[in-house]
Amino acid sequence: MSTKGVTVINHPLVQHNLTRLRDARTEPQEFRRALSEVAALMVYEATRSFAVNACRVRTPLATARGWRLQREVVLVPILRAGLGMLDSILQLIPHARVGFIGLKREEKTLRASTYHKSLPKNLSRFEVILIDPMCATGGSTVAAMDLLAELGAKRVRLVNLVAAPEGIRKVRRHYPRLPIFTAAIDEKLNERGYILPGLGDAGDRLFGV
Ligand code: PRP
Ligand code: URA
Repeated sequence: MSTKGVTVINHPLVQHNLTRLRDARTEPQEFRRALSEVAALMVYEATRSFAVNACRVRTPLATARGWRLQREVVLVPILRAGLGMLDSILQLIPHARVGFIGLKREEKTLRASTYHKSLPKNLSRFEVILIDPMCATGGSTVAAMDLLAELGAKRVRLVNLVAAPEGIRKVRRHYPRLPIFTAAIDEKLNERGYILPGLGDAGDRLFGV
């Protein structure tokens, strides 16, 4: 499989937390902590290529060269599981706006349907970070990307935790240039569309429901 445009973040702290998240014995409280921590570590990597403008800044003693982000940032978690990654990313990018996309995968067809969206109207001037810990069939990512594209988004990157090869292939077919940041590309999907070995149902494990 071509993994062009997919960055697998092998940082030890990312992998340590991913292992806690995979462990079936990890309870929601610890699951939330680990997901939150891993999200901050991953977004640090995912934003490395953000465009900046040079500027001058006056220190108490002299002037120094500095850098400012060129564009405003919009974070877009896919509900529900993306919520588990939002707060820690917001702590790193506190000036970011936050949009939401609510998607639910139908159990039998595995099709994602939209039940909520709240996004800035014109996304063309923003750096958009799409947040979803799971990319299984890829249907949710593609549905979210379609909504972002309708609103003119030009610079989107996906921060994901675990992806299936099937999901990456689907996302690539629809959005060949979307940069994908993940902590693991797992083996495959099972017959119910769950990632193997994966970590189970991320939303259920995060919220205990
Ligand atoms: C899960 C997960 C992703 C989606 C991935 O959400 O959080 O959004 O499945 O699957 P896909 O790649 O096959 O579309 P789910 O629809 O179960 O909703 P939830 O987060 O509310 O549990
Ligand atoms: N959604 C999840 O939360 N986990 C999977 O393995 C697949 C879809």
